Amino acid sequence: MEILTHRVRIAAPGDGEAVGLLAAVALEHTDEATQGRARPGRDLLGHIETRGGIIRARHGHAICRVAADQQDKVIGMIHVAPPMSWIDEHPMALRPALGRTVVELGMLAVDPGHQGRGIGRSLLAVVEEDERARGTEVLFAKVAWTNWASLRWHRNQGFTVAAPDEALLLYTSEGETSLVDLKDGHALLYKPMQSGIRILRTRLPGDVAFLYLSSLPAHSGHRRLINAGSPAPN
Ligand SMILES: CC(C)(COP(=O)(O)OP(=O)(O)OC[C@H]1O[C@@H](n2cnc3c(N)ncnc32)[C@H](O)[C@@H]1OP(=O)(O)O)[C@@H](O)C(=O)NCCC(=O)NCCS
Repeated sequence: MEILTHRVRIAAPGDGEAVGLLAAVALEHTDEATQGRARPGRDLLGHIETRGGIIRARHGHAICRVAADQQDKVIGMIHVAPPMSWIDEHPMALRPALGRTVVELGMLAVDPGHQGRGIGRSLLAVVEEDERARGTEVLFAKVAWTNWASLRWHRNQGFTVAAPDEALLLYTSEGETSLVDLKDGHALLYKPMQSGIRILRTRLPGDVAFLYLSSLPAHSGHRRLINAGSPAPN
Protein backbone atom coordinates (compact mmCIF):
# COMPACT_ATOMS: atom_id res chain seq x y z
CA MET A 1 0.00 0.00 0.00
CA GLU A 2 1.34 3.45 -0.95
CA ILE A 3 1.76 5.74 2.05
CA LEU A 4 0.26 9.17 1.46
CA THR A 5 3.11 11.63 2.05
CA HIS A 6 1.66 14.71 0.41
CA ARG A 7 -1.44 16.12 -1.19
CA VAL A 8 -1.87 18.51 -4.09
CA ARG A 9 -4.18 21.49 -3.64
CA ILE A 10 -4.75 24.91 -5.16
CA ALA A 11 -2.41 27.43 -3.51
CA ALA A 12 -4.19 29.07 -0.59
CA PRO A 13 -3.86 32.58 0.85
CA GLY A 14 -0.60 32.60 2.82
CA ASP A 15 1.29 30.33 0.34
CA GLY A 16 2.87 33.27 -1.57
CA GLU A 17 6.25 33.17 0.16
CA ALA A 18 6.66 29.38 -0.22
CA VAL A 19 5.72 29.61 -3.91
CA GLY A 20 8.28 32.42 -4.37
CA LEU A 21 11.03 30.25 -2.85
CA LEU A 22 10.10 27.31 -5.10
CA ALA A 23 10.05 29.61 -8.15
CA ALA A 24 13.75 30.25 -7.46
CA VAL A 25 14.33 26.45 -7.60
CA ALA A 26 12.41 26.26 -10.91
CA LEU A 27 14.56 29.03 -12.42
CA GLU A 28 17.91 27.75 -11.15
CA HIS A 29 19.15 26.86 -14.64
CA THR A 30 17.78 29.91 -16.40
CA ASP A 31 20.25 32.71 -17.15
CA GLU A 32 19.87 36.04 -15.37
CA ALA A 33 18.43 37.94 -18.35
CA THR A 34 15.69 35.37 -18.99
CA GLN A 35 15.05 34.91 -15.26
CA GLY A 36 14.05 38.57 -15.08
CA ARG A 37 11.21 37.92 -17.55
CA ALA A 38 10.23 34.49 -16.20
CA ARG A 39 10.34 35.24 -12.46
CA PRO A 40 6.87 35.53 -10.95
CA GLY A 41 6.15 39.19 -10.34
CA ARG A 42 5.27 40.63 -6.96
CA ASP A 43 1.71 40.96 -8.22
CA LEU A 44 1.45 37.18 -8.84
CA LEU A 45 3.00 36.24 -5.50
CA GLY A 46 0.97 38.97 -3.80
CA HIS A 47 -2.20 37.59 -5.38
CA ILE A 48 -1.39 34.09 -4.12
CA GLU A 49 -0.48 35.44 -0.67
CA THR A 50 -3.76 37.30 -0.27
CA ARG A 51 -6.25 35.50 -2.50
CA GLY A 52 -4.79 32.10 -3.40
CA GLY A 53 -3.78 30.36 -6.62
CA ILE A 54 -6.68 30.95 -9.01
CA ILE A 55 -5.79 33.98 -11.06
CA ARG A 56 -7.81 35.61 -13.81
CA ALA A 57 -5.60 35.78 -16.91
CA ARG A 58 -5.90 37.05 -20.47
CA HIS A 59 -7.18 34.30 -22.77
CA GLY A 60 -8.03 31.81 -20.03
CA HIS A 61 -7.13 30.67 -16.57
CA ALA A 62 -3.92 30.72 -14.54
CA ILE A 63 -3.72 28.30 -11.64
CA CYS A 64 -1.00 27.78 -9.07
CA ARG A 65 -1.15 24.49 -7.20
CA VAL A 66 1.06 23.29 -4.40
CA ALA A 67 2.04 19.94 -2.91
CA ALA A 68 1.85 20.03 0.88
CA ASP A 69 3.21 17.51 3.39
CA GLN A 70 1.25 16.03 6.28
CA GLN A 71 1.86 19.20 8.33
CA ASP A 72 0.58 21.25 5.34
CA LYS A 73 4.07 22.61 4.66
CA VAL A 74 4.46 23.51 0.98
CA ILE A 75 7.08 21.27 -0.68
CA GLY A 76 6.25 21.64 -4.38
CA MET A 77 4.40 23.86 -6.81
CA ILE A 78 3.14 23.94 -10.36
CA HIS A 79 1.78 26.93 -12.25
CA VAL A 80 -0.14 26.89 -15.52
CA ALA A 81 -1.37 29.80 -17.61
CA PRO A 82 -2.23 30.58 -21.22
CA PRO A 83 0.86 31.61 -23.24
CA MET A 84 -0.41 35.19 -23.16
CA SER A 85 2.19 37.12 -25.17
CA TRP A 86 2.13 34.50 -27.93
CA ILE A 87 -1.68 34.56 -28.09
CA ASP A 88 -1.61 38.39 -28.19
CA GLU A 89 0.33 38.19 -31.48
CA HIS A 90 -2.71 36.65 -33.19
CA PRO A 91 -5.84 38.21 -34.67
CA MET A 92 -8.67 38.72 -32.16
CA ALA A 93 -10.87 36.10 -33.82
CA LEU A 94 -8.33 33.39 -33.14
CA ARG A 95 -7.31 34.19 -29.56
CA PRO A 96 -10.13 32.43 -27.66
CA ALA A 97 -9.48 29.16 -29.53
CA LEU A 98 -5.74 29.36 -28.92
CA GLY A 99 -6.35 30.07 -25.23
CA ARG A 100 -8.49 26.95 -24.98
CA THR A 101 -6.09 24.81 -26.99
CA VAL A 102 -2.63 25.55 -25.61
CA VAL A 103 -1.70 25.93 -21.94
CA GLU A 104 1.78 26.70 -20.67
CA LEU A 105 3.33 24.93 -17.72
CA GLY A 106 5.03 28.06 -16.45
CA MET A 107 6.74 26.82 -13.31
CA LEU A 108 7.26 23.42 -11.73
CA ALA A 109 9.49 22.78 -8.75
CA VAL A 110 9.83 20.40 -5.85
CA ASP A 111 11.81 21.33 -2.74
CA PRO A 112 15.33 19.85 -3.19
CA GLY A 113 14.96 17.82 0.03
CA HIS A 114 11.84 16.10 -1.32
CA GLN A 115 12.74 15.45 -4.97
CA GLY A 116 12.59 11.96 -6.47
CA ARG A 117 9.63 10.81 -4.33
CA GLY A 118 6.83 11.19 -6.85
CA ILE A 119 5.78 14.73 -5.89
CA GLY A 120 6.54 16.29 -9.29
CA ARG A 121 4.65 13.45 -10.97
CA SER A 122 1.57 13.94 -8.81
CA LEU A 123 1.59 17.75 -9.35
CA LEU A 124 1.67 17.13 -13.11
CA ALA A 125 -1.04 14.46 -12.89
CA VAL A 126 -3.47 16.85 -11.17
CA VAL A 127 -2.81 19.53 -13.81
CA GLU A 128 -3.31 17.04 -16.63
CA GLU A 129 -6.58 15.74 -15.24
CA ASP A 130 -7.92 19.28 -14.97
CA GLU A 131 -6.69 20.37 -18.40
CA ARG A 132 -8.17 17.26 -20.03
CA ALA A 133 -11.53 18.07 -18.50
CA ARG A 134 -11.30 21.67 -19.77
CA GLY A 135 -10.62 20.45 -23.32
CA THR A 136 -7.02 21.70 -23.54
CA GLU A 137 -5.24 19.95 -26.41
CA VAL A 138 -1.58 20.57 -25.65
CA LEU A 139 0.45 21.44 -22.57
CA PHE A 140 3.74 23.13 -23.31
CA ALA A 141 6.76 23.82 -21.14
CA LYS A 142 10.05 25.65 -21.50
CA VAL A 143 13.09 24.02 -19.90
CA ALA A 144 16.67 25.36 -20.05
CA TRP A 145 18.83 23.27 -22.40
CA THR A 146 21.38 23.07 -19.59
CA ASN A 147 18.82 21.49 -17.23
CA TRP A 148 19.44 17.91 -18.37
CA ALA A 149 17.77 16.29 -15.37
CA SER A 150 14.55 18.18 -15.95
CA LEU A 151 14.56 17.60 -19.73
CA ARG A 152 14.93 13.88 -19.06
CA TRP A 153 12.22 13.98 -16.41
CA HIS A 154 9.76 15.72 -18.77
CA ARG A 155 10.50 13.24 -21.54
CA ASN A 156 9.80 10.39 -19.12
CA GLN A 157 6.48 12.07 -18.33
CA GLY A 158 5.47 11.95 -22.01
CA PHE A 159 6.64 15.35 -23.31
CA THR A 160 8.12 15.65 -26.80
CA VAL A 161 11.22 17.85 -26.80
CA ALA A 162 11.33 20.05 -29.90
CA ALA A 163 14.74 20.27 -31.56
CA PRO A 164 16.29 23.75 -31.74
CA ASP A 165 14.42 25.74 -34.45
CA GLU A 166 11.68 23.08 -34.67
CA ALA A 167 8.27 24.76 -34.51
CA LEU A 168 4.95 23.28 -33.41
CA LEU A 169 2.54 24.10 -36.22
CA LEU A 170 -1.13 24.49 -35.36
CA TYR A 171 -3.82 24.49 -38.02
CA THR A 172 -6.86 26.62 -37.32
CA SER A 173 -9.94 27.54 -39.28
CA GLU A 174 -8.39 31.04 -39.49
CA GLY A 175 -5.09 29.78 -40.89
CA GLU A 176 -1.84 28.31 -39.71
CA THR A 177 0.18 29.42 -36.70
CA SER A 178 3.16 28.11 -34.77
CA LEU A 179 4.97 28.07 -31.47
CA VAL A 180 8.62 28.74 -32.20
CA ASP A 181 11.98 28.49 -30.51
CA LEU A 182 12.80 31.91 -29.02
CA LYS A 183 16.52 31.10 -28.97
CA ASP A 184 16.73 32.07 -25.32
CA GLY A 185 18.49 28.91 -24.15
CA HIS A 186 15.26 26.98 -23.53
CA ALA A 187 13.89 23.86 -25.14
CA LEU A 188 10.15 23.79 -25.92
CA LEU A 189 8.36 20.65 -24.78
CA TYR A 190 4.86 19.50 -25.67
CA LYS A 191 2.45 16.93 -24.30
CA PRO A 192 -0.97 16.14 -25.80
CA MET A 193 -3.80 16.29 -23.27
CA GLN A 194 -6.63 14.52 -25.09
CA SER A 195 -6.68 10.82 -25.80
CA GLY A 196 -6.12 10.01 -29.45
CA ILE A 197 -4.07 13.16 -30.12
CA ARG A 198 -0.42 12.71 -30.80
CA ILE A 199 2.49 14.99 -31.59
CA LEU A 200 4.13 14.02 -34.84
CA ARG A 201 7.26 15.20 -36.58
CA THR A 202 7.60 15.79 -40.28
CA ARG A 203 9.77 17.65 -42.80
CA LEU A 204 8.89 20.38 -45.23
CA PRO A 205 10.66 20.72 -48.58
CA GLY A 206 14.07 22.23 -47.85
CA ASP A 207 14.52 19.80 -44.95
CA VAL A 208 12.81 21.99 -42.36
CA ALA A 209 11.50 19.78 -39.53
CA PHE A 210 8.40 20.69 -37.58
CA LEU A 211 5.94 19.17 -35.13
CA TYR A 212 2.17 19.04 -35.45
CA LEU A 213 -0.86 17.61 -33.67
CA SER A 214 -2.60 14.68 -35.26
CA SER A 215 -5.67 12.70 -34.31
CA LEU A 216 -5.23 10.11 -37.05
CA PRO A 217 -2.59 7.44 -37.69
CA ALA A 218 0.88 8.80 -38.39
CA HIS A 219 0.96 7.67 -42.02
CA SER A 220 -2.22 9.58 -42.93
CA GLY A 221 -0.48 12.98 -42.79
CA HIS A 222 -3.64 14.40 -41.19
CA ARG A 223 -3.20 17.65 -39.26
CA ARG A 224 -5.63 18.46 -36.53
CA LEU A 225 -7.72 21.54 -37.19
CA ILE A 226 -8.46 23.85 -34.28
CA ASN A 227 -11.85 25.42 -34.73
CA ALA A 228 -11.55 29.14 -34.00
CA GLY A 229 -15.32 29.44 -33.80
CA SER A 230 -16.04 26.66 -31.33
CA PRO A 231 -17.87 27.74 -28.17
CA ALA A 232 -16.01 28.07 -24.87
CA PRO A 233 -16.57 25.18 -22.43
CA ASN A 234 -18.64 26.01 -19.37
C1 LIG B 1 11.86 18.20 -12.20
C2 LIG B 1 11.14 18.02 -10.85
C3 LIG B 1 9.95 18.96 -10.78
C4 LIG B 1 10.66 16.55 -10.75
O1 LIG B 1 9.96 16.38 -9.53
P1 LIG B 1 10.30 15.14 -8.57
O2 LIG B 1 9.31 15.14 -7.48
O3 LIG B 1 11.74 15.22 -8.21
O4 LIG B 1 10.10 13.90 -9.57
P2 LIG B 1 9.27 12.58 -9.27
O5 LIG B 1 9.82 11.94 -8.03
O6 LIG B 1 7.82 12.86 -9.30
O7 LIG B 1 9.66 11.73 -10.54
C5 LIG B 1 8.76 10.80 -11.05
C6 LIG B 1 9.46 9.82 -11.93
O8 LIG B 1 10.59 10.39 -12.60
C7 LIG B 1 11.79 9.71 -12.22
N1 LIG B 1 12.81 10.75 -12.08
C8 LIG B 1 13.06 11.50 -11.03
N2 LIG B 1 14.07 12.36 -11.31
C9 LIG B 1 14.44 12.09 -12.60
C10 LIG B 1 15.41 12.60 -13.46
N3 LIG B 1 16.27 13.55 -13.07
N4 LIG B 1 15.49 12.12 -14.73
C11 LIG B 1 14.64 11.15 -15.13
N5 LIG B 1 13.71 10.60 -14.34
C12 LIG B 1 13.62 11.06 -13.09
C13 LIG B 1 11.48 9.03 -10.91
O9 LIG B 1 12.29 7.91 -10.74
C14 LIG B 1 10.03 8.64 -11.17
O10 LIG B 1 10.02 7.55 -12.06
P3 LIG B 1 8.82 6.47 -12.07
O11 LIG B 1 7.61 7.22 -12.59
O12 LIG B 1 9.29 5.45 -13.03
O13 LIG B 1 8.68 6.00 -10.67
C15 LIG B 1 12.09 18.29 -9.66
O14 LIG B 1 13.17 17.41 -9.72
C16 LIG B 1 12.59 19.73 -9.57
O15 LIG B 1 11.98 20.56 -8.92
N6 LIG B 1 13.74 20.04 -10.20
C17 LIG B 1 14.33 21.38 -10.11
C18 LIG B 1 13.49 22.45 -10.76
C19 LIG B 1 13.25 22.20 -12.23
O16 LIG B 1 14.15 21.80 -12.94
N7 LIG B 1 12.00 22.44 -12.67
C20 LIG B 1 11.59 22.22 -14.04
C21 LIG B 1 11.99 23.32 -14.95
S1 LIG B 1 10.93 24.71 -14.77
